[in-house]
Amino acid sequence: LNAYLSQRRAAVEEHLRACLRPEPGLPASLLEAMRYSLLAPGKRLRPLLVVLACEACGGRPDAPWPGASAVEMVHAYSLVHDDLPAMDDDDLRRGQPTCHKTFGEALAILAGDALLTMSFQVLSEGYPPRTAAACCRELARAAGAAGMVGGQVDDLAWENAADHTAPALEHLHQRKTGALIRASLRLGVWAARGEDGIPPGLLERFDEFGRCLGLAFQITDDLLDVEGNAGAAGKRVGKDAARGKLTYPGLLGVEESRRRAEELGRRAAETLTPLGPAARPLLGLVARVVQRDR
Ligand code: IPE
Ligand code: IPE
Ligand code: MG
Ligand code: MG
Ligand code: MG
Repeated sequence: LNAYLSQRRAAVEEHLRACLRPEPGLPASLLEAMRYSLLAPGKRLRPLLVVLACEACGGRPDAPWPGASAVEMVHAYSLVHDDLPAMDDDDLRRGQPTCHKTFGEALAILAGDALLTMSFQVLSEGYPPRTAAACCRELARAAGAAGMVGGQVDDLAWENAADHTAPALEHLHQRKTGALIRASLRLGVWAARGEDGIPPGLLERFDEFGRCLGLAFQITDDLLDVEGNAGAAGKRVGKDAARGKLTYPGLLGVEESRRRAEELGRRAAETLTPLGPAARPLLGLVARVVQRDR
């Protein structure tokens, strides 16, 4: 499985590199900042979910790449903006100085804008019309005001708030991180089956898988901030408590948070059982998410 995932990760990175080529009108400084953040050594979880979901649904080998590239672009933009002084004010990301530390705040904001916008270009140029439209809609809804951006707004607004509950925190995580993970799986399904019809219930099955995986992923992200180390994680730790962020370990404690992440991992795995051996790589990915140290 490690070799299988490495091979796909390398293919994802090759497609990302190919999207970021010089073109007339594109300033060299902007291209450099976009490359710096997009090609930095991330885990590529979201594009891998696109690829593995597409494969699990019998997609053609060339089908997942526009979707995989697009979600990683949205994710990379969200990290660049998340790290800005006005947001989490971080100086380390993916083991290197954050985009604004290297290129300045203005160019970091604009590099984020350009990555976000490019994601929709890649989808609309990479798929036939029906699939392209569906993928653009999925990604826009997930990344937008009632999805990731909405979650980020509440994450900031709720800093130092004392009166929140576990259901409210779950709703925050479902938008801030869960929405893009769910969209990654949906893009994989659309890439595989979009032109000839998606079998009833298939998107919903992946939604339930994504709901569990997304929440487990953000709980382990919160746990890494408490228990991890910056060397392995490639980003500063201990920042959530310092900023008064609402997190699972903050609300429920480390033990209970770890228990919930494991439970969600088990539930995610169960939802894939009906897909049979085609879903085996996704199961492997779940185990890696729950046990991760970066
Ligand atoms: C970090 O995401 C930000 C969150 C949504 C929690 P990842 O942990 O997937 O970051 P990279 O892509 O590996 O850098
Ligand atoms: C970031 O969440 C979520 C998005 C970028 C949408 P965090 O603020 O927890 O991510 P890290 O811990 O900085 O990677
Ligand atoms: Mg944040
Ligand atoms: Mg952050
Ligand atoms: Mg975090």
